[in-house]
Amino acid sequence: MTDAIDPHALSEEDFHAEVHSFQFWLEAVEGYLAGTEFGFDAGQTDETFTLPELSDLITTLCNYCVAEKTALEASSGMIRFAPSPDAAIFLSTQVADEGRHLEVFVHRLKMLGIEDPWQEIDNRANRSLLQFKDRLLEFVDQQDWEAAIFVQNVLLEAMEFTVFKAHASSADPITSAILAGVVKDERRHMGFGENDLGRKLRQAPHTRTRLNQINKELNPLVLSTFSEIAKELKLNTHQGLSISSNYLATIDRLGFST
Ligand SMILES: [Fe+2]
Ligand SMILES: [Fe+2]
Repeated sequence: MTDAIDPHALSEEDFHAEVHSFQFWLEAVEGYLAGTEFGFDAGQTDETFTLPELSDLITTLCNYCVAEKTALEASSGMIRFAPSPDAAIFLSTQVADEGRHLEVFVHRLKMLGIEDPWQEIDNRANRSLLQFKDRLLEFVDQQDWEAAIFVQNVLLEAMEFTVFKAHASSADPITSAILAGVVKDERRHMGFGENDLGRKLRQAPHTRTRLNQINKELNPLVLSTFSEIAKELKLNTHQGLSISSNYLATIDRLGFST
């Protein structure tokens, strides 16, 4: 089962050959989605939530939908100016993933009694996350591949990966199962960003200066989004800080500092 392959453990060439294909994608998602409905085992029964717990979970899920819709809009827009057919094929698998992520989070909102998820998402969307979205879509509209791949496949994916992973460890069983599947996809998307930018940065080192600037500009929006989510997830100070520090460590590992 290809799901067992850790994309980060592959050499750059193997990563390129393996991950930029629908064949790899199909085998990967089959590994963890087979037998599930909307990302979890349909036989699972839901937990009973207190009203404040329910409200916080709904707000968090609404913001996950904002992030997923952002990735869906950006990755689909980027296909038009992808620098190679391989990159376009990878992005088409990402579009399918992001559409699925949006669907499972919207479905979870409906399960929790939200009749009009789109209205609820508008009402509860975090301002910093919306500003982040606007900035990413500006880069997409400008067909600026380096900035768009950095902001989407490095910054946004690292944000999602960090938060979803932390939330999966403390969430109710259904939300946790949904998040565990989504995290696997986000890891693949992040790997694509690292691989693509890694090559570019070696060919054009001055690009790093520009991407560092973008990172500095967007970092306050990321950290402000984290602090809202930490409140909703009722994380203590230590757990909240560890989300931020895990995120910053991921970005640092790629050679970008804030
Ligand atoms: Fe996603
Ligand atoms: Fe993603």
